[in-house]
Amino acid sequence: MNEEKVYHLSYVSTGCDCLKFEDIKAILESSNANNKSSSITGILVYCNKHFFQILEGNKEDVVELFEKISIDHRHDGVIKIQEGFIDERKFDSWNMAFKSYNKELKALDNFNTEEFYTYINQKLKNGKDVSLQILSDFFDLNG
Ligand SMILES: Cc1cc2nc3c(=O)[nH]c(=O)nc-3n(C[C@H](O)[C@H](O)[C@H](O)COP(=O)(O)O)c2cc1C
Repeated sequence: MNEEKVYHLSYVSTGCDCLKFEDIKAILESSNANNKSSSITGILVYCNKHFFQILEGNKEDVVELFEKISIDHRHDGVIKIQEGFIDERKFDSWNMAFKSYNKELKALDNFNTEEFYTYINQKLKNGKDVSLQILSDFFDLNG
């Protein structure tokens, strides 16, 4: 995408106890549709009830989406990790990439493990970024 200023924001949260495969599938489907219409890209990682998400796009759109996500009852304990302008999108091929570390959710992944590792580390070579570093370190620890 050709654009001047890309804003990104990352956070962690904890999914509610009742979250099932169908709920995560529904979150991903609406995220992909909504994000496409507002040119938001990013990644959502799920592990053992915890979410880690990176959102990228126009600042107003990213901030507005984060406000909606923060009050979503399907998760709580939302803690923002990073936000600010970046040189370029890191996930421009995905309106919402998804990587799960729970085997019952593997069918929803749109990254395979090898591809994920190579992709994240390739992007890290272009410059430091704490959110990508978290993804890379997390992968190193969890496979
Ligand atoms: C962990 C998590 C991540 C989410 N990520 C997104 C997202 O990337 N894009 C999005 O539109 N909604 C996302 N949602 C859903 C929003 O909280 C909210 O339900 C949705 O934006 C409302 O969309 P609607 O106005 O079309 O009903 C997420 C929800 C959760 C719990």
